[in-house]
Amino acid sequence: MAKAWGGRFQEATDQRVERFTESISFDSRLADVDITGSQAHATMLAKVGLISDNERDQIVSELENIRGEIQRGEMEYRQELEDIHMHIESRLTERLGDVGRKLHTGRSRNDQVSTDLKLYTRAAIDHVDELLLDVQRALVERAERDKDIVMPAYTHLQRAMPVLASHYWLAYAEKFDRDRQRLTDCRRRVNVSPLGAAALAGTSLPIDRHETAKLLGFDDVARNSLDISSDRDYMAEFIFSLSLIAAHLGSWAEEWIIWFTTEFGFLKLPDSFTTGSSIMPQKKNPDVLELIRGKTSRVIADVSQILILLKGLPMAYNRDLQEDKLAMFDALDTVVACLELTPAMVTGAELNVHRINSQLEDGFLDATALMEYLIKKGVPMRTGHETVGTLVGQCESNGCRLADLSLEDLQSACDLIEDDVYEVLGTVNANKALQSFGSGGRAAVEEQIAHWQGRLS
Ligand code: ARG
Repeated sequence: MAKAWGGRFQEATDQRVERFTESISFDSRLADVDITGSQAHATMLAKVGLISDNERDQIVSELENIRGEIQRGEMEYRQELEDIHMHIESRLTERLGDVGRKLHTGRSRNDQVSTDLKLYTRAAIDHVDELLLDVQRALVERAERDKDIVMPAYTHLQRAMPVLASHYWLAYAEKFDRDRQRLTDCRRRVNVSPLGAAALAGTSLPIDRHETAKLLGFDDVARNSLDISSDRDYMAEFIFSLSLIAAHLGSWAEEWIIWFTTEFGFLKLPDSFTTGSSIMPQKKNPDVLELIRGKTSRVIADVSQILILLKGLPMAYNRDLQEDKLAMFDALDTVVACLELTPAMVTGAELNVHRINSQLEDGFLDATALMEYLIKKGVPMRTGHETVGTLVGQCESNGCRLADLSLEDLQSACDLIEDDVYEVLGTVNANKALQSFGSGGRAAVEEQIAHWQGRLS
C-alpha cells in the first residue's frame, strides 16, 4: 500500500521497519479524539475558504461514519498504516477520494497527534477527578460514621497520640484533594490548542487557529509553533500528578496491609475484597491492597520514562515522542483501576473497635497531654517533657500506666500537679484535650466534617 508520505521514496518500507515503527497497536484509543479534531479542522478549512462547504459536510459526516465503524469494532487495523491518524485518513480517502485528500491541509501529524493527546488528557483528567471525588465521598462518609472511635495515631509506626478515627479518614480526603488541585492546575496547561502549529513552523495557508481552538473547547491558542508542536510538558505533569495519587494509594495500601495482620488486628476486610490460599485453608489475604501497592510502582516508573524521553530531544518533533503514549496510558489505566476499587474498600472495611479499645491504654498515648497540662500550670516545655519522660520510665518499670499513678507519685515528680490531672490522663481524655485548629480532637474534627459536607454536597 502506498504511504501517505511515499512520494519521494523509490523502495517499499522493510516489513521489519513497519513492525518497528507502528503505533496503531497502542494509539487506536485516540480514534475518538482524532475524529473530533479532524472535524473541527475541516470546519475551519471551510470557514476560511480552503475547502468548500460541501466538501466540509462530506468530510464531517464521513468521519462520523468512521467513528461508528471504529466503535463497533469494524475497522481493521493494519501495521503498514502506522497509526490511528493514518487509518482514519486513509479510510476517509477511500470513501471520498480527492475530497478526503484535502483534510490534512494546513496540518501535520505533529500538531494533530498533540491535539489528540491534549483532548484525550483533558477527558482523562476529568475522569480521574470524578474518581477521586468518589473516594473523598467514601472517606467523608466514614468520618461521619466513626466520630466516636478514638484510635492511636502513629509516627515511626510507634504509638504517638490519640485521634478520632474521623481524623484519620479525613487526612486522606486532604491528600486526595491536593491531587485534585494538581489535576485542575495541570488541565489549564493541557487546554491550550496546538492545532495549526503544523509540522513546527506554522503554514503559509490562511488557517484560523482560534476557530479550531474554540470548536474543540480549548481556552487558548499556543503562541509559538516551534514550542508547541512537540510540547509534552503537560503530559509529564499529568503523569506526575497520577504518580502522586499512586504514592498516596500505595502508602494507604501498605498501612492497611499492616492493620489487617493478626498482630495489629485493626481492620476487617470484606470477603469480596480479599482472596484465599490454595494450600492454607485459614488464610484471608489482602491481595487487592498488595496489588494496589505493587501496581502503583509502575506509575512512578512512568514519570521517569516520560522525563527521560523528553530530556534527550532537540527542538522540535522527534519520533521518540511516539513512546509518550505508552507511559501515559499505563499510568492512567493503573491509577484508574486502583481508584475504581478504593471507595468500596473504604466503606466496606470495618474497624475492629474491640481490638482497638482493648489496647487503647497501651503505649502512653496520653504522655503529651500530661506534658501540656504541666505547661498550662506554668512549667517550661522542656522541663515538662523531661518530667513526663521520667514518669513514663517509672511506669514502664512498674508495668503501669500514667493514669494509674497516685497523686502523690505525680506530685513527687512535679508539685504543680493537682487533682485535675486525671482529666487529661487516659487515652480518651488525652484525645478530648486536643483543641487546636486541624487537630484530632472533637471540635476540630467536627469542623473538618462540616467543611467536607459543604464541599462535597
Ligand atoms: N504515530 C506518530 C506519533 O505518535 C505520528 C507522528 C509521526 N510524525 C512524523 N512527523 N513522522 O508520534
